[in-house]
Amino acid sequence: MSWFTQTIFSTSVGRKVIMALTGLFLCTFLAVHLAGNLQLLHNDGGQAFNLYTKFMTSNPLIKTISYVNFAFILGHVVWGAYLTIQNKKARPVGYAYNDPGKTSSVSSRWMGVLGTMILIFLLIHLKDFKMAYMGLTEELPMVTYTLENGESVTVKNMYEEVEHEFHEPLVVGIYTLAMVALAFHLYHGFQSAFQSLGLRHPKYTPVIKAVGFVFWGLIPLGFAIIPLIFFFCPTILK
Ligand code: HEM
Repeated sequence: MSWFTQTIFSTSVGRKVIMALTGLFLCTFLAVHLAGNLQLLHNDGGQAFNLYTKFMTSNPLIKTISYVNFAFILGHVVWGAYLTIQNKKARPVGYAYNDPGKTSSVSSRWMGVLGTMILIFLLIHLKDFKMAYMGLTEELPMVTYTLENGESVTVKNMYEEVEHEFHEPLVVGIYTLAMVALAFHLYHGFQSAFQSLGLRHPKYTPVIKAVGFVFWGLIPLGFAIIPLIFFFCPTILK
């Protein structure tokens, strides 16, 4: 094993660096995914969203990025579970009140709980949307649009599926709760990622805090408002 591989995989700092890098990559995915999903809120009967979904699932470059994304999700989940177990083993019992070691083990335990909630949400989400789009759980209806240049395109009507899902109170509840968990997970994760990468200098703190707020605050909020609008005020989408 080379020095680099050994440092990354067998030291606690190295393990945190892996979590930080995979986590920051996944944050980028979330920003792009939200930008695409916000097209659900155009009141055009789903045309922009359906054309966007078709593009995202058929473009070869994006398909490759999607495989990388799944690899990063898997890496982040498996490595996070391993780190949580290691932390638990390292600090079994008995701390004095306000011990910083205890504080860090509590936050790492919470990161594990929140991460598990997000993983459960993700599995439900992929089954409802990704597998449906791939035709594995159901056959989505097709819809034809005439573009500005007169060309006609026929695509799967994913918009109708999203509309159908977000009429279910249980689904809307799960999405809202999952976005609260995501917000807390990113709040801690974003700051600790910069610490693990050694980038927490007082000079950069205001920038890190501002960018962090976009990720832990605005992105989960942006995801949460979509099911809430579909459920509580569908008329504004018509
Ligand atoms: C309002 C909330 C959301 C909506 C409407 C939504 C919608 C969709 C749809 C329609 C797909 C399947 C089509 C495609 O692959 O592009 C999809 C895939 C996916 N979604 Fe979401 N999503 C939401 C939130 C989230 C969140 C919060 C996460 C992560 C925590 C997430 C992670 C994923 C992943 C990993 C995929 C598979 C992407 C791929 O194949 O590369 N989604 N989403």
